[in-house]
Amino acid sequence: MTDQTPAPAAPAYTGPRRILSGIQASGALHLGNYLGALKRFVELQDQGAPIFVFVADMHAITVWQEPAKLVTQRREIAAAYLASGLDPRKTIIFPQSAVRAHAELAWIFNCVARLGWLDRMTQFKEKSGKHKERASVGLYTYPVLQAADILLYKATEVPVGEDQKQHLELTRDVAQKFNNDFGVPGFFPLPDPVIQGPATRVMSLRDGLAKMSKSDPSDNSRINLTDDADTIAAKIRKAKTDPAPLPETLDELNARPEAKNLVAIYAALAGLTREQVIAEFGGQGFGAFKPALADLAVSSMAPVTAEMRRLLNDPAEIDRVLADGAQRAAEVADPVIEEVKKIVGFWS
Ligand code: TYM
Repeated sequence: MTDQTPAPAAPAYTGPRRILSGIQASGALHLGNYLGALKRFVELQDQGAPIFVFVADMHAITVWQEPAKLVTQRREIAAAYLASGLDPRKTIIFPQSAVRAHAELAWIFNCVARLGWLDRMTQFKEKSGKHKERASVGLYTYPVLQAADILLYKATEVPVGEDQKQHLELTRDVAQKFNNDFGVPGFFPLPDPVIQGPATRVMSLRDGLAKMSKSDPSDNSRINLTDDADTIAAKIRKAKTDPAPLPETLDELNARPEAKNLVAIYAALAGLTREQVIAEFGGQGFGAFKPALADLAVSSMAPVTAEMRRLLNDPAEIDRVLADGAQRAAEVADPVIEEVKKIVGFWS
C-alpha cells in the first residue's frame, strides 16, 4: 500500500432511524421556534421513526435562570409541545435534566471535542457579547452538551432551524472523533440536520436582516406564542415593509428581505411554497397581503395558544407527561451510556 492509497472508509452506522430535537427552557417561545421547530416536529411524528423531543433545561442554565422560573418555563415548553400537536403516545417528551446520562456523556465529549472547534462557534460569540470572560464555562461548552443530547439516543435526524447548523456540524465531528479515537467505527451515527421548509430562519418583523429572537429588546419584532389575536394582528400590521407591491418572482423576492420574510411566514403557516404564495399575491400591495397574513397567523396560532393556556392550568398533568417521557428516554439512554463507559474504560 502506498501513501497515496486512501484509507478504507470506516463502516457506516447501521442502527435504526431515530429523530430527536429540543428547545431551551429559557423564556417565551416565538413564531420562529414554532415554524422552524415545533411545527416540524409534529410533521415528523408520523413518519414511522421513533421521535424524542426534550426540554433543554440544562442548556437554559448556561445563562442565569431563577430556579422557580425554570420550573415554569420547563412546563411552558412542554405545554407548547403538546398544544402544537405532539402526542405523548407517539413522541417521547421529557426534561433533559431528568436523564442523568446527558451530563455523563457531555463530560466524556468535553474530552473529545477540541478547543479550536468551540472557538469557531458563532452562537457563543453572539451570546457572550463583549465580555466573554464573564460568560459561564457552560455557555462555551454548550454545543458539546448538545452533541451528548443527540448521540445519547443515537439519533440519525435532528430537525432544527438554520441557526443550529453549526452545532450539528460539531455533533458530527464529535461522533466521528469518538468512533475513531476509541476504535469503534460506526458506534455513533453522524446525524443529519433536518433544516427544511420555507421558515428555517424567520426574521424580525422590524428588520428583515435580523433573526426573530427572544433576546430582541423590541416586542414588536416577534410574535410570541402567548400573544392574543389582537396583538398578533397589530404586530403584522406594523411589520416593516417597503412601498413596492409584492414581487412576482422569487429572484425579486430574494432582494427584498422584509417582503421575503412575510412571504416565508405565510407559506409556512399555510403549508405552501413561497412560489405558490407569490403566485397568489404577486403584484398586490401590502395593504392586501398583511390582512391576509394576519388572519392566517391568528387562525393558525390561536388554537395553539388557547390549548397552551388550558394545559398550563393543570401543571400536575404536564409533569406526569414529562415524568413518563423521562422514564422511556432513560430506557434508551442508559444502555448507550453503559456501553460508552465500557468503551472509555470507566467504572461501569
Ligand atoms: P432554541 O431553544 O434557541 O431554539 C429552538 C428551535 O427553534 C429554532 N429557531 C428558529 N427557527 C427559525 N427561525 C427563527 N428565528 C428561530 N429561532 C429559533 C432553533 O433553530 C431550534 O431548532 N441549542 C438548541 C436546543 C438544543 C437542541 C439540542 C436542539 C439543545 N440540545 C439537541 C436539537 C438537538 C437551541 O438553543 O434551540
